[in-house]
Amino acid sequence: MLGPVILAASRSDRMRRLISAAPVTKQVVDRFIPGETVDDIVPIIKDLTAKGLELTMDVVGEDITTPGQATAARDAYLALIDHLKDLGLGEKVEMSVKLSMFGQALEGGHELALANVRPVVEAAAAIGTTVTLDAEDHTTLDSMFAIHEELRRDFPQTGCVIQAYLFRTEADARRLAAAGSRVRLVKGAYKEPAEVAYQQKHEIDKAYVRVLRILMEGEGYPMIGSHDPRLIAIAQELAHQAGRKLNEYEFQMLYGIRGDEHLRLAAEGHRMRVYTAYGTDWYGYFMRRLAEKPANLRFFLRSMVSK
Ligand code: FDA
Repeated sequence: MLGPVILAASRSDRMRRLISAAPVTKQVVDRFIPGETVDDIVPIIKDLTAKGLELTMDVVGEDITTPGQATAARDAYLALIDHLKDLGLGEKVEMSVKLSMFGQALEGGHELALANVRPVVEAAAAIGTTVTLDAEDHTTLDSMFAIHEELRRDFPQTGCVIQAYLFRTEADARRLAAAGSRVRLVKGAYKEPAEVAYQQKHEIDKAYVRVLRILMEGEGYPMIGSHDPRLIAIAQELAHQAGRKLNEYEFQMLYGIRGDEHLRLAAEGHRMRVYTAYGTDWYGYFMRRLAEKPANLRFFLRSMVSK
């Protein structure tokens, strides 16, 4: 019940100001967004890769309002890629980007987002890695898939995300499950209306399995973005049935959630990629993490009251 309320708050400027200014917020935020600058995040990248994990990096931010902010987002990713090059970690660390941070919602936003994201994809390719386009709310997806297709002409390894809760996703999965494609399947983290998305957890989980089967039986590279132990076990079984080797799919989880499971899967020989977010514009990302698990909200509220 709380999830939709928190997701509505994630789009409220008033709530953003209130929560961002609360003195205790930072400690709670750090669990999910463990740094604000590249310098903060480099030790974490080194630590996780040394443990046999791979990463996908998210410079947090979304729903920007000026072209200048979109350019700044591009530059932040380019600076990160420069650091990865210096660290020699290009192959272990990819980027995740939200096109709304690259100007997608502004006037002429489709072209603007494409123009801003292309240099990031080029720079990533130059150091031997790639970019995955995150999926945001359903109104943005036709543009996201068109940008994905356009980028793949020159950089076929560019990935994208599909969300099991959307009715459209089985059809998207069939189209995307082709040789060379990289597709991350997640349940979906936005507040979506009943006209376009399943609302109940059991319906979303069943849809996740249907889409996962399409990806596993297809010719692309499935990336299983979930912390759900049942879905992880089902993914292993479907991969086995489809005759996939351990390096022909990967698991992905968010930094700060089920860290032991990251290590367990990596120790079993799976490719395990940790989605690691950093930066200052963390409000939307943080609120979605609260919405996913009401216990996080209770913890957050308790720490505010106890100060
Ligand atoms: P579920 O929510 O059922 O959680 C299963 C278990 O995981 C819980 O019981 C709990 O133990 C743990 N857990 C899950 N979330 C938690 C949290 N916030 N705090 C503490 N424990 C938690 N969404 C989207 O719309 N677009 C996108 O591009 C992405 N990208 C993305 C990348 C990666 C790598 C992941 C893992 C997830 C995303 N998501 C996303 C988010 C996704 O849609 C979904 O909201 C979360 O993964 C939570 O769903 P689970 O599949 O983990 O299952």
